[in-house]
Amino acid sequence: MLTSLFLCGALGVLVIPARSELISVCLEEDNDLRVDCRIEPKPNKINSYEFSWSSGTKESLINTNVSGSAAEAQFRDKSEVVELEPHGYRMTLKGFTETLPHNTTYMCKISGQVESVLVEKEKLEPCSAVSLFLKSSWSWIVPLLICLYRAYC
Ligand SMILES: *[C@@H]1O[C@H](CO)[C@@H](O)[C@H](O)[C@H]1NC(C)=O
Ligand SMILES: *[C@@H]1O[C@H](CO)[C@@H](O)[C@H](O)[C@H]1NC(C)=O
Repeated sequence: MLTSLFLCGALGVLVIPARSELISVCLEEDNDLRVDCRIEPKPNKINSYEFSWSSGTKESLINTNVSGSAAEAQFRDKSEVVELEPHGYRMTLKGFTETLPHNTTYMCKISGQVESVLVEKEKLEPCSAVSLFLKSSWSWIVPLLICLYRAYC
């Protein structure tokens, strides 16, 4: 009983923060890099996005639709941005996965709010693993409830 309570707790702790991540990075099946940015746009601000990364002191703009700023030429035909439901943007980047530096900080900016995450190259996860985990809140609420039920009853 104590063990299962502990396991339920661990499950909850592991799973809940993952749902609230505003920026996540993963590798698609064809090895493209995917960055999801789920910052909620502020209603009173211009809706725009900006994706960039940095490694060491070098920061590069990958894709943006902020008027007046432009992505670096090397990314121009390689990256694509689509809208996410209920809000946010997904950027995919082709052809850079092999040459990523060891540590890369990925950043995105929506309505002036910036989120960033540092990901080591070796720790990039396939998107299928991440999305399975995040697909629906029910996918983790149900096991959590079963878990708690077992622990208490
Ligand atoms: C950026 O793109 C989004 C979605 O396509 C659009 O709603 C927004 O108005 C664009 N922002 C600018 C500054 O063009
Ligand atoms: C990458 O980041 C990790 C964790 O912050 C650090 O321990 C490691 O030394 C860094 N590696 C390089 C090559 O900068």
